[in-house]
Amino acid sequence: MNSSAKRISIAIAVTALATFAASAVLVSVVERKQEARNPFFKVVELTDDIDDPAVWGKNFPMHYSSYKSTVDMVRTRYGGSEALPHTPSRMDPRHVVAQSKIEQDPRLKRMWLGYPFSVDFREERGHAYMFLDQQYSQRVTGFKQPGTCLNCHASVYLAYRKLGNGDLVAGFEKLSQMPYAEASRHAAQPVACIDCHDPKSMQLRITRPAFLEGIRVYKASQGVPNYDPNTMASTQEMRSFVCGQCHVEYYFQGPQKRLVFPWHKGLKVEEILAYYDEVRHKDFVHKESGAGVLKAQHPEFEMYNQGVHARSGVACADCHMPYRREGGLKISDHHVRSPLLNINRACQGCHHFPEQEMKDRVELIQTRFYKARNVAMDALMDLISDIKAARDAGAAGSQLEKAWDFQRKAQFYLDFVEAENSTGFHAPQEALRIVAESIDFSRRGQLTLRRK
Ligand code: HEC
Ligand code: HEC
Ligand code: HEC
Ligand code: HEC
Ligand code: HEC
Repeated sequence: MNSSAKRISIAIAVTALATFAASAVLVSVVERKQEARNPFFKVVELTDDIDDPAVWGKNFPMHYSSYKSTVDMVRTRYGGSEALPHTPSRMDPRHVVAQSKIEQDPRLKRMWLGYPFSVDFREERGHAYMFLDQQYSQRVTGFKQPGTCLNCHASVYLAYRKLGNGDLVAGFEKLSQMPYAEASRHAAQPVACIDCHDPKSMQLRITRPAFLEGIRVYKASQGVPNYDPNTMASTQEMRSFVCGQCHVEYYFQGPQKRLVFPWHKGLKVEEILAYYDEVRHKDFVHKESGAGVLKAQHPEFEMYNQGVHARSGVACADCHMPYRREGGLKISDHHVRSPLLNINRACQGCHHFPEQEMKDRVELIQTRFYKARNVAMDALMDLISDIKAARDAGAAGSQLEKAWDFQRKAQFYLDFVEAENSTGFHAPQEALRIVAESIDFSRRGQLTLRRK
């Protein structure tokens, strides 16, 4: 080859290489864009009849593997959960359980005397345990419970549809009325992909009739009629609503044991209590005092809604399922857990302070709350002691009615923020306001017994 021919062939080779390189970049850009829009390889065709998360996981292996991480147990100062070894027995085959809250604070046991919570109540742990922990809780093994309990402790969307011959609400009603043991045979696993996602579009969706009904009556109380989150909510709202199907205050209504969220007058503690007073609901009669009282349960959704994060449009998923990068992808972390174990992704996207500083701020809020909560707990114990003493001294029911009503109020307010699992963080000022009113109710209850 002469030199000019050599030069030409080199030029061609260089051009070809450059073209190849350029097109390779182009292809990968196109692929990335497509991945971002449709970030998975469709391995299986998902339908509304497949509830096994392992099958969904074939299309979304990264989501599935982080979903499975909810088995982790790590303690934070006030949250997370500690893994306690447990000797398996016939009644309770668990090898590991979370710590007992009523043993840590016996005042809780006294507050709930006459109710199953005074027998067994533990710290909550990851989603992977929700079905197991319910089945083996002494609140289930030692007491009669309805199928309704499963609504928030298992993947029941498909069971509801099957039992209702396609009608979700009919199936929900059927399962709820079965005894727990029978109902639990219709469930197999904790909350799964199908409970939060539409299998075709992967859009978030609400699958629990109690939330659909609860948010409808709540919105109606705010002047918005016929609200349906599945057609009317924004994506950002759905990122909290899916959690609000379970992390809420509830009660079982009537002999049908229908699951009802008491939001008819609003989401604040006094609005919920006003509803319970109106429908004359009580959960139990306090064993020592004889008062007809209520048990509050995990009102995370209600309390979060009173805080500055909700007001600023920050959703549960922003802190508890923050985005994380996997290759070129941004995926939602399905390892739902305490954000304090994940401050970098959960908080620092918005707050530009060092991790330690963010942690300190949260713990300061929690410690202040916890101290106030202890004052309220002592006040409630004093009220219960006084009512008991009056009863023992022969006081009639009519003489105790006012004190009983104050106990009902004081106890519900305190339990509301106690059962709320953020130790005051989701709405710090609201939590302290509620504790302050609880203390006042307890002390005023004591006064009614002194003024004859
Ligand atoms: C601004 C961030 C943020 C938002 C929004 C938020 N949380 Fe939290 N949440 C926290 C923090 C911080 C804690 C305290 C964790 C700890 O003490 O370890 C917490 C605690 C919890 C806990 C107890 C966790 C544990 O490990 O003990 C639950 C359950 C929970 N939140 C549910 C929710 C739900 C449901 C929503 C929406 C209705 C929500 N959170 C909204 C930050 C947030
Ligand atoms: C189907 C009901 C259900 C739904 C939906 C649900 N949770 Fe939970 N969640 C539970 C139950 C039940 C537990 C306690 C499980 C246990 O202790 O065995 C729990 C536990 C938790 C914990 C404690 C984890 C730990 O490691 O201590 C957090 C945090 C939490 N949920 C946040 C959320 C958030 C955020 C959402 C929405 C994205 C959500 N949950 C949706 C029922 C639900
Ligand atoms: C509206 C949803 C909902 C219903 C209905 C529900 N739970 Fe739960 N349950 C939760 C959530 C959320 C948690 C985790 C937060 C917590 O422990 O406070 C939880 C935690 C638990 C735990 C673990 C912590 C503990 O309390 O020891 C047990 C056990 C439990 N529930 C039993 C039951 C039983 C029994 C029923 C029926 C009487 C029931 N649940 C009904 C939502 C629900
Ligand atoms: C408790 C509800 C819940 C469960 C259960 C759940 N997800 Fe999600 N998922 C979410 C939320 C919240 C988002 C964020 C959605 C958004 O921002 O539009 C999400 C987002 C996604 C996305 C969209 C891309 C992304 O990462 O944001 C995929 C894909 C996904 N989930 C797959 C799964 C799979 C697979 C499972 C079962 C292994 C599963 N999810 C279980 C709540 C859930
Ligand atoms: C999507 C953005 C966003 C995320 C994520 C977020 N925050 Fe915030 N945070 C805000 C906004 C907005 C405010 C309101 C104050 C303001 O406007 O500056 C706020 C206020 C606060 C406050 C002061 C208000 C109060 O409630 O006392 C604290 C403390 C705080 N955030 C902690 C956290 C922690 C801890 C996390 C992670 C678990 C977190 N935030 C995650 C946006 C966010």
